[in-house]
Amino acid sequence: MLMQNYARVNLGFKKGKGAVLWDFDDKDYIDFGSGIGVCSLGHSHKKLAKTISKQAHTLLHTSNIYQIKPQEKLSDKMCELLREPYYVFFANSGAEANECAIKLARKYGNSFKEKKYEIFSLANSFHGRTIATLKLTGQEKFHPNDFAPYPEAFKFFGSIDEIIANLSDKTAAVMVELVQGEGGINPLDKADIQKLAKVLKEKKILFITDEVQCGVYRTGEFVTSQIYGVSPDIITFAKGLGGGVAMGACASKEDIFKFGDHGSTFGGNFLATTAGICVLDELEKLKVDGKLDETISEFEAMLDSLVERFPNLFVKRVGLGLMQGLVLKNPENLGKIFTKAMENRVLILKSGKDTLRFLPPLNITKKEIKKGYKRLLKTLKDKELA
Ligand SMILES: Cc1ncc(COP(=O)(O)O)c(C=O)c1O
Repeated sequence: MLMQNYARVNLGFKKGKGAVLWDFDDKDYIDFGSGIGVCSLGHSHKKLAKTISKQAHTLLHTSNIYQIKPQEKLSDKMCELLREPYYVFFANSGAEANECAIKLARKYGNSFKEKKYEIFSLANSFHGRTIATLKLTGQEKFHPNDFAPYPEAFKFFGSIDEIIANLSDKTAAVMVELVQGEGGINPLDKADIQKLAKVLKEKKILFITDEVQCGVYRTGEFVTSQIYGVSPDIITFAKGLGGGVAMGACASKEDIFKFGDHGSTFGGNFLATTAGICVLDELEKLKVDGKLDETISEFEAMLDSLVERFPNLFVKRVGLGLMQGLVLKNPENLGKIFTKAMENRVLILKSGKDTLRFLPPLNITKKEIKKGYKRLLKTLKDKELA
């Protein structure tokens, strides 16, 4: 028996190819969610499948006390794409990548004569489901009394200006998602972020970007901080990095941990990091060939057309790259559209109270976008939507 912690729908899949999934009755579904931004190369990507299979026949795992060559290669690849040197720690999930960032921040704060220990975040953020990352998540509904007491000195504020106004000698770090993914698709203001980065640098406070959802080319560049023109002290990754193989990473400009401060049994093993290298090589090609930018334009145009055709339903399109949202006029339609889209065999996601979320595979084809669009048109014409 499974724990009842997910609100599972009455649907499951047996196989996938590209942006298409097939259910147990062989019905095809267009996947505009890619497992919440995980399957960045779509399903059953030939090269990724071959790479994983080859690695499985060679070596899956050794302890992190031994050298793991693909781990070194992947960290080098990430630094090349970041265009700056970073020290990388590999974990298994986004929450773990953020836990690593939190520990780095606390250890960094401990190096000051007067200890810095506060970590700030922004309202409507989401940083994970461990006790610490839940507390850092800037939404009260994620801090129920059921799990109290929470660790101390995590605070969230309503705006970047409020964060800046509350910084003190006790603040060790600020973590933000540059495009908020769970609390409505919300790209933060570029000028605000540049101001925050500057103030944090002056005050010797770490600037951490949680790029678990918005990183790994999701918004059009390797990391969203490149679009914002900032260079964070720490960047966290997960989701799209393994293309479906569980993996997280935390990249830090400073090598803060000493031997024994942190670790993971599985983190960065041969299977995950070999998959990660393949994913980054393929995504880099998509970017360099101009295909990623083309796909972004096509996807945006498809969503714009929906906003134009259904002014009764939508306020606007929001988002960056292939992390997109459609804000609804009536929040009551959120669940209805999600379910009706599924019935019409196009898979979308929800975000916040009133936003349809789209995180398609980054290599989705024109044909797949068109097919999904037709199914969304049918969904949105439904008379029950008001
Ligand atoms: C921005 C962000 N941070 C952290 C997490 C947590 O990642 P994971 O579910 O892999 O622990 C998520 C997951 O949705 C996320 O979107």
